[in-house]
Amino acid sequence: MRLVKLTDIAEIKPFDCGDQDLNDFLYDDARFYNEQLLAHTYVLEGETETVAYFSILNDKISQTDLDKSLWRKLRKNIPHEKHYDSYPAVKIGRFAVSQKYAGKNIGSDIIDFIKRKLADNNEYSACRFLTVDAYRGAISFYEKNGFLPLLKNPPEELPTVPLYYDLSMSK
Ligand SMILES: CC(C)(COP(=O)(O)OP(=O)(O)OC[C@H]1O[C@@H](n2cnc3c(N)ncnc32)[C@H](O)[C@@H]1OP(=O)(O)O)[C@@H](O)C(=O)NCCC(=O)NCCS
Repeated sequence: MRLVKLTDIAEIKPFDCGDQDLNDFLYDDARFYNEQLLAHTYVLEGETETVAYFSILNDKISQTDLDKSLWRKLRKNIPHEKHYDSYPAVKIGRFAVSQKYAGKNIGSDIIDFIKRKLADNNEYSACRFLTVDAYRGAISFYEKNGFLPLLKNPPEELPTVPLYYDLSMSK
């Protein structure tokens, strides 16, 4: 298997994660997002098929978006004199593993790879947090990978729940 930038491959090998929106994003939208500098997509390729992909973009976490107690928790590891109203972040925009490869730790390995990459490359442009708007069905996957909630009571009508990970834990 090899991890490549979508822009470095001519053709996307077959992929099915079981979610049509996420399948369609890879084929129909990902290149456009890249061209428009809205999100970069990376693809994990096998011999004949796409095993997984993720897209990634810049983000920030603002005090105004959070419950007070969660905001306190989020910045408890940041020195007091560096307490600001918002902090830089990088967001996992889309993330999916092929159904055929689900449950084999590939998703967790990719999350570890992203955390390491961001923590190691922090000299160029700093980001403190990794964020994701998680599908409700995938919340336990992200929790298993160290993510915490950004909202105490996320609105029921939203299909996703915002989560974050403190990248200082991966340094
Ligand atoms: C969620 C997803 C990325 C996980 O990838 P994965 O490679 O299957 O995950 P891993 O094998 O590293 O970890 C699986 C663990 O997460 C848990 N988990 C929680 N939700 C899960 C889900 N929807 N699918 C698979 N595992 C899930 C499992 O219980 C398992 O824990 P365990 O090892 O203790 O039993 C993948 O299943 C997927 O692409 N699902 C469909 C699309 C999706 O929901 N993407 C997330 C968008 S925010």
